[in-house]
Amino acid sequence: PKIYVITPTYRRPEQVAELTRLAQTLMLVPNLHWLVVEDAVAPTRRVLSFLDTCSVPHTYLLEFVVANKPLINKCYVPYRQPPSLAGRQGMASRRYKGANKPRGVSNRNAGLKWLKGHAKEGIIYFADDDNTYDYRIFQEIRETKQVSMFPVGLVTRLGVSSPIVSGGKIIGFYDGWIAGRKFPVDMAGFAVNVKFYLKKNAPLMPYNVGFEEDGFLKALKIKPEEIEPLADNCTKILVWHTRTVKSLPALKMPDSDKVTKTNLNYLKSQ
Ligand code: UGA
Ligand code: MN
Repeated sequence: PKIYVITPTYRRPEQVAELTRLAQTLMLVPNLHWLVVEDAVAPTRRVLSFLDTCSVPHTYLLEFVVANKPLINKCYVPYRQPPSLAGRQGMASRRYKGANKPRGVSNRNAGLKWLKGHAKEGIIYFADDDNTYDYRIFQEIRETKQVSMFPVGLVTRLGVSSPIVSGGKIIGFYDGWIAGRKFPVDMAGFAVNVKFYLKKNAPLMPYNVGFEEDGFLKALKIKPEEIEPLADNCTKILVWHTRTVKSLPALKMPDSDKVTKTNLNYLKSQ
């Protein structure tokens, strides 16, 4: 089965460095399709030129609304946020920037909607652009029949988030922030089979900070004991929730993320 990697990304000085690191891991994985979903009102030029020479098979998706009309052309597959949710995150609206903003949710949902229209089988994996992935995690998740789970390193105050496995079954969760969640796991700690996902009516991820994973997994109506533990019964860490220090906070991005005349002309010229 093909692995569909959904990567939310947004415009900032570190963006192409993050995407480069991730792409060069994905280059080691056969039969993979990378959905790069940008949270922006206009494409970031350097991302497009990065993708031009990127050897990983990919699709670029953009959430893009101009006068409520998505701009469709051969280069982009724009995704229109539902008006009620538009501006809840990211560069699309700076007004909502802050700790309580669900990051990457509308990007992931754009990826999921694309999958619904383009894939009948395969594996779904949500890979944030700043995490660190051992290429062997992709060998592991390729076998996912319904939902699989595995540990994530460098997350929360405990330093690791992991399912607890006994007799080959998941019997609980170790995580620094349980918060009443049924599935207290990180976004990078699970994979879903496409057929299974479609059979469960292809739910989207909720805009609920801290509960995105839990909400999504609950909507798949799976019991913890049915989940497939990977990485040697969850004893190995093959993915880390690394975060990039913003070392150049004042660095100005030369590309504008505003819907300017120049950006629109650029879009139309593609
Ligand atoms: C943690 C989780 O690992 C994320 O999966 C989760 O979405 C996020 O918290 C949350 O719920 O807020 P964290 O490292 O704190 O991740 O968040 P970021 O890495 O800053 O963002 C997660 C993803 O969303 C990244 O791929 C990032 O590129 C993207 N993002 C972030 C946007 O698309 N737009 C933004 O404005 C911010
Ligand atoms: Mn992150």
